[in-house]
Amino acid sequence: MATSLAGNLKRVVGMPLVAVLFSFIFFFTIPSCVSQLTRLEHQVKDDGSLSLLVVGDWGRRGHFNQTIVASQMGRIGKELDIDFVISTGDNFYDDGLKGPHDPAFEESFTEVYTANSLQKPWYTVLGNHDYRGDAVAQLDPFLRKVDSRWLCLRSFMLDTEIATFFFVDTTPFVDKYYTEKSHTYDWRDVSPRRAYLANLLKDLENALRESSSRWKIVVGHHAIRSAGTHGDTEELIQHLLPILKANDVDLYVNGHDHCLEHISSHDSPIQYLTSGAGSKAWRGDTKKYDERVMKFFYDGQGFMSMQLTSTNVEVLFHDVLGEVLHRWKVSKDLHSSI
Ligand SMILES: *[C@@H]1O[C@H](CO)[C@@H](O)[C@H](O)[C@H]1NC(C)=O
Repeated sequence: MATSLAGNLKRVVGMPLVAVLFSFIFFFTIPSCVSQLTRLEHQVKDDGSLSLLVVGDWGRRGHFNQTIVASQMGRIGKELDIDFVISTGDNFYDDGLKGPHDPAFEESFTEVYTANSLQKPWYTVLGNHDYRGDAVAQLDPFLRKVDSRWLCLRSFMLDTEIATFFFVDTTPFVDKYYTEKSHTYDWRDVSPRRAYLANLLKDLENALRESSSRWKIVVGHHAIRSAGTHGDTEELIQHLLPILKANDVDLYVNGHDHCLEHISSHDSPIQYLTSGAGSKAWRGDTKKYDERVMKFFYDGQGFMSMQLTSTNVEVLFHDVLGEVLHRWKVSKDLHSSI
């Protein structure tokens, strides 16, 4: 592995004494302006670029083509010499992990994503299915002893020289999980809900505002925009989207709907990218969507790759055979202010 995970686990507050003192004073004078999001770092390649894969909604012990998607991720991952993988959540079906010692962790992760190119950090968020089990278990550092690639936190930021990725815990935003009778959710550490969400939004907003990164990419499990089974998530449109729009976010990346899709916007530069097709797909119930913004929709299995430089981002969607189904590229002038 190119970088040590322990080295990456550096909190914003882990700075020299002067900085600590400064943060201390700052924190007690203007508390609402310091982001408390855990901050990780990842090195870019020697040429200043970065490449990665994004997969979501996968853990089914290799079934439903998870293994085939995994092997194609391995092939494309090698071709692109990827730096890391992002998982958009719903890591373990049907009901998350039972605990940190649940064999599903190895059966659905370690023993499936075996390719050399995938032996990189996996930056991961939780999905609604993960919350149906022991959600805290997936955050347990013990899992890194089982498989050192695993890095799952509720919300955090991943800083690189050319882009910052903001990972957001979206499940507690969704009202229906708090009322539905058919499932139970592990709300430990995210209660009381209102305070948790208010803090999360404040931390995210501060982190986005403080960031001078060339590319700002937000990752969550639930879609903001989607033509799949679940469709748009109203709670995120209401609470999360205004913050993304106000802070020059380039991409919102999610899973949840078991498909691959790219939706653009007519009122902001934000592109909505769904990669939630890591195993079971083919739902066959695509919704009609505004054709002016719908760029690409694929109901089947696959994953997304992303290549970034300080001036370009290229996104590719790959199917279960690794074939490129859709390609999208955006450029930003080096001198443009952010
Ligand atoms: C797995 O992928 C193959 C090849 O595209 C496809 O024919 C098959 O239906 C898929 N199986 C499932 C369970 O989705």
